[in-house]
Amino acid sequence: MLLRHGVRRVASATQLAVQSSRLLDGRRPLIQPHDLRPKGVVDMLTGKPVQSFNDSLGVELPHVDLTDDFDYDDIEALKQACDEAGGIVVFTNQKPEMTVHDHVRFARSVADHDNTCLEPHGVAAGHKDAPEMLEIVREANAGVVFGENWHSDFSFHDESASYSILRGAEVPRLGVNDTLFSSVEDAWDALPQEKKDLLIDLRCFHSANRAYGKGHGGNSRAAMEKTDTMAFKKDMPILDFDVLQPLVSMHPRTGRLGLFASPTFTTHIEGVSAEENKEILNFVYQWFARPEFCTRVSWQPNQVVMWDNRSLSHKGVADECSERRVVQRVTVRGSSPMNHRGEQWSLTHKVKAAEAGLF
Ligand SMILES: [Fe+2]
Repeated sequence: MLLRHGVRRVASATQLAVQSSRLLDGRRPLIQPHDLRPKGVVDMLTGKPVQSFNDSLGVELPHVDLTDDFDYDDIEALKQACDEAGGIVVFTNQKPEMTVHDHVRFARSVADHDNTCLEPHGVAAGHKDAPEMLEIVREANAGVVFGENWHSDFSFHDESASYSILRGAEVPRLGVNDTLFSSVEDAWDALPQEKKDLLIDLRCFHSANRAYGKGHGGNSRAAMEKTDTMAFKKDMPILDFDVLQPLVSMHPRTGRLGLFASPTFTTHIEGVSAEENKEILNFVYQWFARPEFCTRVSWQPNQVVMWDNRSLSHKGVADECSERRVVQRVTVRGSSPMNHRGEQWSLTHKVKAAEAGLF
């Protein structure tokens, strides 16, 4: 069986049962309200207007109630739908009364399916009623955008995030403050062979300090310090060590390769000069930010989005900040990212954060 962009799977009885799951009823492409989106927004990385043409990326599932109980096959069906859509599932029509506990319980089902656990944020304090949850509050006109540059959530962890599950608790009008996603797998597939040969065996360090360390003006820590809506944790051991990750990682479910680096968390490529480092990473970032690899998720009330950090890079679109925005995220711990040969380094190759350098 050939699925979207080369995701191959041999159909078994279980998989056929999963594919006919009632949870997939009414699946459809993501809405793209072009006319409602502010015009002329420029990407801070590329300096070009934000555009997205990858309309086959992502799927909306309008008939899943996340307050339900889910068994193993249910979660497998949702993960397969996610794989086939390149890593984005948008759950619309959630109950307005869905609680933070319902959200955590669903995320826990996703984690249990992989025998893993939830990953609370390492720097920001959790929600008062659900410590596993990160609540990102932006008051109206606060002029602060969190996650405004490209990244894969928690790529600085030795076992980096698999899925992020984000609920829009209070969202601006439709078309404003979208989330922009790039398929770093589509981006890899489209690279010329000579670039693939150059990149495939490189390794790079990822650091939480780049976004959350002190003394880097304009990073997420600086944004958090400008607002009293988000608090820091007392202990932040995640800032002590940086980890070595493959620049090109292989997805553990689909086997697809993807570009696994970001201007938010990657410090440098191992074993190259500062000049080459800048040249290669800038190429990678500019490449995956190209509109043909990107799509946008627009936020509607009562919407939850689950995305796969192994397949995607994402960022908040910093257009208008005149309306209050509250989003709540629960993140699932993944595994140590592996390269095309199945090799992994993040669990064994850690350096003191200061030694990773090259900010
Ligand atoms: Fe993020």
